[in-house]
Amino acid sequence: MACIPSKSEAETATNGPPPEDVSSRNLEDLIRTLPTREGWSQPMVLYKNYWCRPHLVGKIMLLQDTFKPRSDDIILATQPKCGTTWLKALAFTITNRSRYSFSDHPLLTSNPQYLVPFIEIPDAGRDHTYLETLPSPRLLSTHLPLSMLPSETSSTGCRIVYLCREPKDAFVSRWHFENKIVKGSSIELEKAFDMFCEGFSPSGPFWDHCLEYWKESLARQDEVLFLKYEEIKSQPEQVVRQLAKFLGVPLTAEEESAGVAQEVVKLCSFENLTSLQVNQTGGVDHGNKIYVENSVFFRKGKVGDWANHMSEEMAEKLDRVIEEKLKGSGLSF
Ligand code: A3P
Repeated sequence: MACIPSKSEAETATNGPPPEDVSSRNLEDLIRTLPTREGWSQPMVLYKNYWCRPHLVGKIMLLQDTFKPRSDDIILATQPKCGTTWLKALAFTITNRSRYSFSDHPLLTSNPQYLVPFIEIPDAGRDHTYLETLPSPRLLSTHLPLSMLPSETSSTGCRIVYLCREPKDAFVSRWHFENKIVKGSSIELEKAFDMFCEGFSPSGPFWDHCLEYWKESLARQDEVLFLKYEEIKSQPEQVVRQLAKFLGVPLTAEEESAGVAQEVVKLCSFENLTSLQVNQTGGVDHGNKIYVENSVFFRKGKVGDWANHMSEEMAEKLDRVIEEKLKGSGLSF
């Protein structure tokens, strides 16, 4: 697997014009036609039914025009704050386990975010052609909803692992993150909560993003694996085995006896990753007053932390919204 730094949090959002030559288009004019809303750390636009930072629109269009999925690609899809960093660490470790020993591993010196590039934002200073230079099989990631991936992604049969998270925990994690990445900014919890419940959040509406991948995972079980953060928390070794099998590199009997599943879990654990210097220092300046420290991808790493921030009324309200939005889908939290 390729090991590449990608230093951006990609976040997404519709109903723009069909893909065409982005360079020849006056992107600013296009962005001005999209519904815009403020409230999070940066204004966002509604592009193809999802909210995203305006600067992403051009990148998404470019991706739709230029990204050539390969049949052996693996795409890790998430909404921000649902465990992207953890999933990247796990998938990278599982798929590269014949290359790296646990004691001398890239995760010991690189933040997991930068070991698996986002397809919509390959890396600061790199354009989308960079993805073409990566050897197969590529391990890639995205915050884009399924409907925004190039259509060939389904027809080529590349595998997608989608990770979602209990919405109240995802919301609380988001709120903390927003307040950390923009210096001097502070968003009131209640205000953020109302926006989230209205479907206005980076990459949101939260439920639509989940539902797209959920339905696809039911329709294409061999190619789309749907996971929940809480499942990994409660049965990490089981999930490592499940992921390895799904990704075409099942754990062998020898690996089982050698405790490889346990080693993977330990290497990628919150405790281990947060103890590493690489995840405690440094960061990336995204401009626009946004500075993303390496440490910002790690906070508590717990299930149920929402209870320390949200009132019972808030919890009940979000539960009701989610129940209503997911009704009849078979997906629940
Ligand atoms: P909290 O803010 O609830 O602690 P993302 O990677 O999608 O941005 O998600 C970040 C969330 O995942 C944060 O949640 C972070 O602490 C948690 N996280 C990051 N690495 C983790 C790990 N190795 N194990 C468990 N949770 C992890």
